[in-house]
Amino acid sequence: MAASVRWLGHSAFHLSGGGADVLIDPFLNHNPKAAAQPDEVPADVILLTHGHGDHLGDTVDIATRTGATVVAIVELATEIATSGVDVRDPNLGGTVQFDWGWVKLVPAWHTAVSPAGTAHTPAGLLINYNGHVIYHLGDTALFSDLQLIGRRGDKIDLALVPIGGHYTMDRYDAVTAVEFVNPAQVIPIHYDTFPLVETDAEAFKQDVENAGFSQVYVLNPGDTHELK
Ligand code: NI
Ligand code: MN
Repeated sequence: MAASVRWLGHSAFHLSGGGADVLIDPFLNHNPKAAAQPDEVPADVILLTHGHGDHLGDTVDIATRTGATVVAIVELATEIATSGVDVRDPNLGGTVQFDWGWVKLVPAWHTAVSPAGTAHTPAGLLINYNGHVIYHLGDTALFSDLQLIGRRGDKIDLALVPIGGHYTMDRYDAVTAVEFVNPAQVIPIHYDTFPLVETDAEAFKQDVENAGFSQVYVLNPGDTHELK
């Protein structure tokens, strides 16, 4: 079953072709590398790793315009619901079911307070989109329990892995993260958006592929990666 994975820049994605338009971390309006504007993206569901401004982004504006359901960890979902947006509010380990698949919140080592001041725990997103298992690692440092995510039954087809350093793991730690997660395919994210997160994505690709871990696809913002 085909599915399209379009990188909108930074940590933002648009999943389509699998029965619903799903946005992840739609930081567009203040994203210098954004491939779309918040008033033009379709959305049935918006999935959030955490509420830092470069992930929460334009979530409330897009959900208000489209009527999309927002999935976020409970404290952040509760804040978002005060804007009149439909939310689902799992905590770590929780799974939310949809017609097109499901999303589970899994641990990520990071910190988070939303722009409005809501403290919450950041997450990774394990997503089954029309039969394709996609793991968005969120903003995380390298930690050994990344090994657990792909080991408990859901072979990961595609991992979306931060490599920019400073606010997340860097491209060197990300190579070991890929070894731990063991996905078939990888798209590097969260780099080159700002000077602090500039890195060499092609070098990351070479390191991962030379180690034989996974196939890496270095995209430009706006590019679409097809899952067969
Ligand atoms: Ni963050
Ligand atoms: Mn971030």
